[in-house]
Amino acid sequence: MVSDLDKVFNRQIRAQKKSAIREVLKLTQRPDIISFAGGLPSPESFPVEHLRKIVCNIFDSEDAYLALQYGTTEGDQRLRELLVERYRQQGLEIDTGNLMITTASQQALDLLPKVFIDPGDKIICGLPSYLGGISAFGFYGAKMEGVKLDNYGMRSDLLEDKLKKMKAFGEKPKFIYTIPDFQNPAGITMPESRRQEIIDIARKHDVLIVEDSPYRELRFEGNPQKMIFAMDNTGQVISLGTFSKILAPGFRIGWVIAHEEIIDKLVTAKQTADLCTSPFVQKIAAKYLETGIFEKHLETIKNMYRDKRDTMLSALKEHMPAGVTWTEPEGGLFLFLTLPEYMDAEKLFMQAIEEKVAFVLGNVFYCDGSGRNTMRLNFSFASREMNIEGVKRLAKAIRKNIK
Ligand SMILES: Cc1ncc(COP(=O)(O)O)c(C=O)c1O
Repeated sequence: MVSDLDKVFNRQIRAQKKSAIREVLKLTQRPDIISFAGGLPSPESFPVEHLRKIVCNIFDSEDAYLALQYGTTEGDQRLRELLVERYRQQGLEIDTGNLMITTASQQALDLLPKVFIDPGDKIICGLPSYLGGISAFGFYGAKMEGVKLDNYGMRSDLLEDKLKKMKAFGEKPKFIYTIPDFQNPAGITMPESRRQEIIDIARKHDVLIVEDSPYRELRFEGNPQKMIFAMDNTGQVISLGTFSKILAPGFRIGWVIAHEEIIDKLVTAKQTADLCTSPFVQKIAAKYLETGIFEKHLETIKNMYRDKRDTMLSALKEHMPAGVTWTEPEGGLFLFLTLPEYMDAEKLFMQAIEEKVAFVLGNVFYCDGSGRNTMRLNFSFASREMNIEGVKRLAKAIRKNIK
């Protein structure tokens, strides 16, 4: 080993604080703890048997040789065609030149700052926003500017104020990062009227929008809201999708939809990251989409998650003390709970662990460090019984802190 390894690491990695949350999250893996902390789909939702047949068919055909070879950086042509076709049905005016495959959405969140960010550049995100996005942007030296959400997503009045203030200082963000459908962590969906306001503001201030939407197809009730990309269709919007929450996160397949010029730069950036996303897994995903089983599968998992969400919502209603509120998402995997103002979720965390239940601290999703009295609860992973029991345990820990 070298004498001072720390000096060998670059400035960027040295600047990354050891995540306290990562240490704390290790506790949530204890088998005696009911964890609402992860963002994991239910393992019961994985279509193992169908996938086994598809894999066997691939190995029985000519495709086996292509599946085991390097692929293009843009991704499997057939998979891209199938995805483009699905999106055209949702009003997106795109072709395969506008869509590239990534090693799931997290890679897209890493490639975006890789092509757009010089250290010190700014990005606007929601308060709160997906931690994996904020962290990836920060890794490339981006400075995050937070805009509060209300029940309809990012507040457009505050967004406009923020952009005006930045302009007064001669600044412009590289993009606005938004998660419009069943937001992680807040569980909120942005209605079309708010989406239009955000587009109008972005156009006025000449700023790109990144629409990150891994939960979009997991709608249990209510009407789907048009994609921001489809409402714009001028190239102002970059959209991210993934199979992680609707098929299997272990596939590590996602995609980016954007103007061709942007795709071109992202492809260049991806080449130095991994050359290509696994051609083998892309072939499986393409066959899965082709068979039509996918649509049935979506219905099955939506029913499963609706039931789990309802179970958690009624348990919260029954057991939580007055002064605690939570969001009621129409889809996705999470809901967001707000404690009375005087309570600190971080202090509560260890008490909850003593009661053998875990959650994610809400403040990790706030780039300005606010949100100390909030937490994210995942309802998709635990069984029905464990969801009820976990909420009871959490309510017990919270009640001890009620003034
Ligand atoms: C908003 C959001 N974006 C991106 C991701 C990354 O997903 P994946 O890399 O599995 O596609 C997640 C995962 O939870 C997420 O919630």
